[in-house]
Amino acid sequence: MTPESHSTTGTDDPTLGPPPGCPAHGLGPGGLRRLYGPEAEDLGDLYEKLRAEHGNVAPVLLHDDVPIWVVLGHTENLHMVSNPAQYARDSRLWNAVQDGTVKPDNPLMPLIAWQPICSHAEGDEHLRLRGAVTGAMSTIDFRSLRRHINRATQNLVNQFCERGTADLVSQFAEHLPMAVLCEILGMPEDYNERLVQAARDLLKGTETAIASNEYVMSVLTRHTIRRRAKPEEDFTSHLINHPAGLTDDEVAQHLRLVMLAAYEATANLIANVMRVVLTDPRFRAQLNGGQMTVPQAVEQSLWDEPPFSAVLGYFAKQETELGGQRIRKGDGLLFAIAPGNVDPRVRPDLAANMMGNRSHLAFGGGPHECPGQDIGRAIADVGVDALLMRLPDTELDCDESELRWRSSMSSRHLVELPVQFAPRPRQDVLERTAVHAVPRPRPDWQVTTEPSEPTAPAAPPVSVQPAQAPEPAHRLSAWQRFLRWWRGD
Ligand code: HEM
Repeated sequence: MTPESHSTTGTDDPTLGPPPGCPAHGLGPGGLRRLYGPEAEDLGDLYEKLRAEHGNVAPVLLHDDVPIWVVLGHTENLHMVSNPAQYARDSRLWNAVQDGTVKPDNPLMPLIAWQPICSHAEGDEHLRLRGAVTGAMSTIDFRSLRRHINRATQNLVNQFCERGTADLVSQFAEHLPMAVLCEILGMPEDYNERLVQAARDLLKGTETAIASNEYVMSVLTRHTIRRRAKPEEDFTSHLINHPAGLTDDEVAQHLRLVMLAAYEATANLIANVMRVVLTDPRFRAQLNGGQMTVPQAVEQSLWDEPPFSAVLGYFAKQETELGGQRIRKGDGLLFAIAPGNVDPRVRPDLAANMMGNRSHLAFGGGPHECPGQDIGRAIADVGVDALLMRLPDTELDCDESELRWRSSMSSRHLVELPVQFAPRPRQDVLERTAVHAVPRPRPDWQVTTEPSEPTAPAAPPVSVQPAQAPEPAHRLSAWQRFLRWWRGD
């Protein structure tokens, strides 16, 4: 992107506002707004200012004042991600990378640096790499996956249910996706606190991020070598044995992509859905009335608080036009999911519920559309539902105004979600963990409730199901027995 292309918007005309770079107004070179620093503390507010000033595609500055277009319109975002002839995800095409405007120590480098993975690949190479990922995903049996999610939830709830209080971000939302992902990848023995902390640290971009990344890569490379030597019925073995013929390095890099994409996005989604269920009177009333299911709450949350708020980035392969702006070959564009989801042209009334409408941008679109969305939805749906079934009287343990978020350009997530509930005994969870279509010879599992339920008074339930003691199987209707079997309890 060049200063010339911005001048068409009039933002670098000194007569229209403060001089370029004026610190008092927080604007950067060319009079452009920065997507970082003090002005960007409330990104939602900043995106709306940009929409008012420039329309659906706005020129902005990233860290180190690197220029980029932010795509704010729903239609414009969809157009960009669905047109691989015009826009690619290969950051080597970006003129800011080619001319050195993006310095190697730019804090966004982990998001920018090209890697040999399907997210950055195009054309035939994209088909080859993505084909291996989706081929391996197609071997997952969703009914077994749901059971595994339920069991992983029961295990996590067991760790805090006797206490009567918990932080649902660090003790639930951040653990459930990693437990499930380790199972899918065929490495349940590697799921532990250290792996969760390393993934978290790596994505935060702290000074220990490099060491955390090395730890994650060492675990995944060891697993790749193990499965290359001795394949089993798991995602990793199917990825290795796919006709696309991935090298060990490509396999390990794609395991990292899947693990991190799935971990962060799904953890954010679970925390967001739990907050909405616990605080939003619309959901609370509807959940109590039994009209709103958890999957519907998940879908509404994907509109209002998408787990990835923006993806860096897309790059113009040729000169073109988007949202009235002239885009030059080599310009960078930010796929801005959160502002796209609240574009007034698709959502004139933000309070209106979006039940049944899945046209949000949370999973992207076009050739790079998230291939793991059904897995992410399943983890959130089943996990939240199972937690509410176990602890139906869960309530927020602080004032809603005390909740804090951590925001970056890529995502916005809750720091903590403290809750309280009547203490309950642990449940016995016997594992049988296969999530793949071909069953492995493992012992069967079951969940049983220990008999002594405490008699502490329960707060009004927020669950989609009424709080009740488990019925003996023979007294349940066929539908209830089916539901218990489906949920794996
Ligand atoms: C709520 C959960 C999730 C959300 C919101 C989400 C969102 C996204 C988004 C926005 C993209 C980028 C689309 C683009 O570049 O235009 C993406 C890509 C991707 N996601 Fe997800 N994701 C989620 C869960 C998962 C899970 C569970 C997996 C795997 C098990 C997964 C695997 C991937 C992969 C492999 C890609 C790269 C696809 C490609 O470039 O062709 N995601 N996801």
